[in-house]
Amino acid sequence: MNQNMDRRTFLSYLGTGAAALAAASAGLGTLEGKASAMSPTADHLFGYRTNQVSGYFDPIEPSKADELILPNGFKYDVVAAFDDIINEAGEKFGQGSDYNAFFPINGSNVHGLLVNNHEYTNIFGLGPIVGGKMSQDQLEKNLYYQGMSVIEVLRDESGVWQMDTSSKYARRINGFTTFEFTGPANRSSALNHASTAQGTFANCSGGVTFWNTVLSCEENFSETAEASKLPSTHYGWVVEIDPFDGSFLKKHTALGRFNHENTAMGLTKDRRIVVYMGDDKKDACVYKYISNGKYVPEQGRSNSALLTDGTLYVANLKNGKWIPVTYEALSKVLASEKFKAPAGVKGSREELMKQYQSQADVVTNCHEAALMLGGMPTDRPEDIEISPFDNTVFICHTNNDAHGNIHGHITRIFETDNDLGSLEFDFEIFAAGGRQSGFSSPDNLAFDSRGNLWVVTDISSSSTNQGVYTAFMNNGLFVIPTAGPSKGAAMQFASGPKDCELTGPFFTPDERTLFLSVQHPGENTTDLSKPTSLWPHREGDSKARCAVVAISGFRFN
Ligand code: FEO
Ligand code: CA
Ligand code: CA
Repeated sequence: MNQNMDRRTFLSYLGTGAAALAAASAGLGTLEGKASAMSPTADHLFGYRTNQVSGYFDPIEPSKADELILPNGFKYDVVAAFDDIINEAGEKFGQGSDYNAFFPINGSNVHGLLVNNHEYTNIFGLGPIVGGKMSQDQLEKNLYYQGMSVIEVLRDESGVWQMDTSSKYARRINGFTTFEFTGPANRSSALNHASTAQGTFANCSGGVTFWNTVLSCEENFSETAEASKLPSTHYGWVVEIDPFDGSFLKKHTALGRFNHENTAMGLTKDRRIVVYMGDDKKDACVYKYISNGKYVPEQGRSNSALLTDGTLYVANLKNGKWIPVTYEALSKVLASEKFKAPAGVKGSREELMKQYQSQADVVTNCHEAALMLGGMPTDRPEDIEISPFDNTVFICHTNNDAHGNIHGHITRIFETDNDLGSLEFDFEIFAAGGRQSGFSSPDNLAFDSRGNLWVVTDISSSSTNQGVYTAFMNNGLFVIPTAGPSKGAAMQFASGPKDCELTGPFFTPDERTLFLSVQHPGENTTDLSKPTSLWPHREGDSKARCAVVAISGFRFN
């Protein structure tokens, strides 16, 4: 037994995740990695070689300053900020930077492609919206500045990270880019028989696949779709792009349509693909998708077809079960005369039978279908990460004031037999937000090779530095060990500028650089002549800009 694990903890793990415990104690990843042909980005998904847990920075204190504050010995470079030109065509970096993924070029840790999500626009991108209605120019900017950027980045000889705007790969993907639908809803009546969609927007967090593409999640899509008179059912999906191939653009309907936060990809014991996903809404569910076919590393990007044919499951945390979200199961539920729509589902049995006539209808109206099948509403499930050490699954439940869950918590799932393909599980509350832990409202997650969880917080801009959120000050980045003597204890690594949320932490494979987005600094600004933040404080600038930074200074024992 790990000498740092007490008897009570040990007993509580017995019978639920014994294999996970064994793996954690041994400090070994449970899956063997195999370097992809293209880059080592996805390698950590197959496990790390060590999980030595050690302190290697001096935690900072919370701050209200309009600065990105890091521990002593660390520095950041602004790699790309809102409206910066990213390529020779003059395309511009989008707004609302969120998820990041770094893809080495020729295996380099200091030169590669960086994929960044752009979640939404604000007053600094559109200007004031008069009478609550966007002008034509604002509607176009709103679609242009959302989506994603692929940029080429490098660390120069003086150790400064910057963009290479002569890149042949650098490009924008936005509300005007055509995507192909895959899966059960492709060409269905639920999508007005469309096989393509105009654009992607509301791209929140995401994930990398085993084959080194990016899955990007369409979260709060409704307002943009409505304002631009685009069909709402074409958004709210997981999209897949290949950073090195601009022609590869998919929307995978088999993964369901809801307010997608991120994806976390893993393998079942029999080598099928699993994708864990959260629906970031109050009283919404946690999902996992399992492919029918098996992952074959040699087939590279062709493995993407695994995301078109499989089963979507929703979690019931009370029973510890994953429930299939299928048309077959739903028609059985609706066939019963005793059927009563659960809270959150509108319509009579007859109306619902009419609405749900195929798997396409089920995936397109996924949240309601999942509730009818017994999915458990939870407190805003945001990022999910699978521990590369023990296959346990960490979920940020950001908060839910409707249930008095003001500071949120991180839930940890133990799949039965430590198999991500299992349909039964147990769980624990791994860490809870609040004064006792020093963080509130956990959102994005990333693991490092020491088994530490890097957690950014999302206290809403209307609540930061007020009432019960006062003590936490500006949103930050925290490090929480998942094993060892400091297991579960949060240490603050960064504090963001005013009104911002830090998002998208992503390490280079050698963990010498951490990419991080500073999303919506100055978001409370209502008058452009009085911005509440001027971060990143560029000379002569009169507005705040969201940006991606590269943090360096990491030390190794
Ligand atoms: Fe876009 Fe759920 O944060
Ligand atoms: Ca988020
Ligand atoms: Ca958020």
